[in-house]
Amino acid sequence: MAQLSGSSDVPDMGRRQFMNLLTFGTGTVVALGMAYPFIKYFIPPSAGGSSGGAIAKDALGNDILVSNFLATHAPGDHVLAQGLKGDPTYIVVREDKSIADFGINAVCTHLGCVVPWNANENKFICPCHGSQYDSNGKVVRGPAPLSLALAHATVENDKISFTPWTETDFRTGEEPWWA
Ligand code: FES
Repeated sequence: MAQLSGSSDVPDMGRRQFMNLLTFGTGTVVALGMAYPFIKYFIPPSAGGSSGGAIAKDALGNDILVSNFLATHAPGDHVLAQGLKGDPTYIVVREDKSIADFGINAVCTHLGCVVPWNANENKFICPCHGSQYDSNGKVVRGPAPLSLALAHATVENDKISFTPWTETDFRTGEEPWWA
């Protein structure tokens, strides 16, 4: 603070901007969602592991430990993690409190907003233009043209490993559009 005392405007502006950042309203979420592809362009694709897989990480970049994760999440939860190539990817908690064997890529297939999970509606609802996806990420309302992409999710050594999903999309019976 002391080094900023030369100008009264500078620290005030800094504080105001900081407070604006803390005011993380819906508009900010939408804006960030729309900016996601742009931001992602600058993130090196080294976040993944070897052989095309990636260990699921939390918002701080730490590996998610399944034992801790399941202790704090309920059946039916859809929880964002960093997945393949750093893509925001949902981990799904099954009714039997196990981790589903697939992760759901959160990037809307319309224009790329990150789609939040709506637990009350039991579906994903995109804040940008209203596309909706069911609890498995299958598109149920446009304008999104396609379902959310899938990744395999495998539990190994108390961690979740995402690997590319190249097989038939079990939700549509079609070849994966993202592969
Ligand atoms: Fe999701 Fe347009 S980006 S509906």
